[in-house]
Amino acid sequence: MNEVSEKSRIAPLDEPSMALAARLLNDGDLVAVPTETVYGLAADATNGTAVAAIFAAKGRPSFNPLISHVSGVAMAQELGEMNALAERLARDFWPGPLTLVLPKANTCPVHDLALAGLDTIAVRLPDGPMRELAARLDKPIAAPSANLSGRISATSAQAVEKDLGKSVALILDNGPTPVGVESTIIAVDGDTLRLLRPGGVPLETIEEAIGQGVEGRDSQDQVRAPGMLASHYAPDMPVRLNAREVASHEALLSFGSQSIPGQDQAAILIDLSPSGDLAEAAQNLFAAMRTINTHGASAMAVAPIPHTGLGAAINDRLARAAAPKDVGHG
Ligand code: TXA
Ligand code: MG
Repeated sequence: MNEVSEKSRIAPLDEPSMALAARLLNDGDLVAVPTETVYGLAADATNGTAVAAIFAAKGRPSFNPLISHVSGVAMAQELGEMNALAERLARDFWPGPLTLVLPKANTCPVHDLALAGLDTIAVRLPDGPMRELAARLDKPIAAPSANLSGRISATSAQAVEKDLGKSVALILDNGPTPVGVESTIIAVDGDTLRLLRPGGVPLETIEEAIGQGVEGRDSQDQVRAPGMLASHYAPDMPVRLNAREVASHEALLSFGSQSIPGQDQAAILIDLSPSGDLAEAAQNLFAAMRTINTHGASAMAVAPIPHTGLGAAINDRLARAAAPKDVGHG
């Protein structure tokens, strides 16, 4: 460990901390790195020991593969086979909150541990420091969301420190992440696109841009996306969706200044976006869930939230937060 770690592992995003982060990653250490979606727990994707440390730090089951973050389309093409459709998606949405699941290329340098034995690879070109670090290393960076496996994702450096402070050498702090929910994951299978996880790019936006429909998850995707099992993003308390009333022992997660009977007596009320803006709600979602989690209410009631646009990703996360906890991952 080094100069930054003595007082706090959190360092503001500047040239010295970026240089340090690159050195640490090259040495096989773990660094928490912000992306536009959530903070990632980053390691050199080609270093098996470093990748193993990610799984250990999160308590993540080894059958749940990691996303590899790249510096550009050229690096993406080394990792996965990009057909014309994949290139089109990359042109329209990279850098950004879109992950493509591609057939693994023969030239792929990513360690097998990160792929969990699959013959496909999840590739993402984010904006900002994660991309910059992949460029400085000239290597892909494996990074899941920087939270304990199955729990609420981290959208701030402080949230990362709470979950993983003991495991990371450094946390790069770039403030709250602007998108707030993880990337949309699309599998490119020849001419067919399948949605594996709704996320920061609304499905409607993708379909409109490419003039082609995206299929929903088919049953095989339980195998293809092993991290997408029911329970995830779980707080310590039960979660009740589409609440039409709230009891005084419950916390209320609301949206759009709805008036929910009983809300004045709620243990705590957080409105994700009083003006009804889904982008703002996505941005606030995980921080709000973490605040409610530490507040001591016995249950979380969630007001109805529209399913359109980013609402699909928000409702997906909330549905997993409400799911029984026996099969949590990621
Ligand atoms: O926005 C994001 O995507 C963030 C930031 C840090 O980039 N990362 C993220 O990683 O959400 P993680 O590990 O929390 O979620 C990645 C999901 C998991 O559900 C995993 O199972 C799935 O992607 N995945 C990874 N490789 C896959 C593959 N080859 N096929 C299908 N699903 C895959
Ligand atoms: Mg995750």
